[in-house]
Amino acid sequence: MALIQCVDLSFAYNGNTVLSDVNFSVQKGDYICIVGANGSGKSTLIKGILGLKKQSNGEIIFGDGLKSADVGYIPQQNAIQKNFPANVYEIVASGRLNKCGLRPFYNKQDKKIIDENLNLFGIENLKHKSFSELSGGQQQKVLLARALCSAEKLLILDEPASSLDPSAAADLYALLKKINDKSIAIIIVSHDLTNSFLNSKKVLHLENKQIFFGSVEDYIKSDTAQRFMRSVKNV
Ligand SMILES: Nc1ncnc2c1ncn2[C@@H]1O[C@H](COP(=O)(O)OP(=O)(O)OP(=O)(O)O)[C@@H](O)[C@H]1O
Ligand SMILES: [Mg+2]
Repeated sequence: MALIQCVDLSFAYNGNTVLSDVNFSVQKGDYICIVGANGSGKSTLIKGILGLKKQSNGEIIFGDGLKSADVGYIPQQNAIQKNFPANVYEIVASGRLNKCGLRPFYNKQDKKIIDENLNLFGIENLKHKSFSELSGGQQQKVLLARALCSAEKLLILDEPASSLDPSAAADLYALLKKINDKSIAIIIVSHDLTNSFLNSKKVLHLENKQIFFGSVEDYIKSDTAQRFMRSVKNV
């Protein structure tokens, strides 16, 4: 059974529909890249999947025991997040908060997972540092480690490479591959088509409605992709 199935989904703000006709599913271990121009509805769809924005039409069906608390999420960054006043350990650990329920502390299992993720991303030496003092690439690793503390089956990233230099972006994509190899599905919104297509298995193209959903190979051959890639190069 699919982890997530979106059926005839639409979203609107103040009665104005910004995204419609969305029909696709996320399977266990999938790696889906969402593409589309600015304002095409990518972040809105992700907020819908996370339950942060209610759809105006259609259904989002969760399967395979997936709950929204099992989804790791890295939002599109803004300046406020970059200056967030907390240290690295506190931020990574906060990825376990939704697993604590009414328990007001992290237990042994939580601490083990927090330490494993600090190690996985090579940031254990930064754990007492303030988040705001880190480089963009280091901050991204901290946010990934935090997201993986809650992701058991699905990780969603909204433009995670936009503030990274090419080498930090390459590191990020390598880490995502490692995560996907552990059978954790990945949905990534990206304008970095070269890297995303090298790593993804499927593409979802939005232009305020669903224009394409299928394999990367089929997408690259499609007229939609040719047109979109030309428009991106012309920006
Ligand atoms: N909170 C909001 N209130 C009103 N309109 C909104 C709101 N958030 C988004 N929109 C509108 O919905 C449309 C889709 O926005 P969305 O943020 O989903 O686009 P996007 O594809 O993620 O764009 P980008 O590539 O710039 O991040 C846009 O026209 C945007 O102006
Ligand atoms: Mg967006």
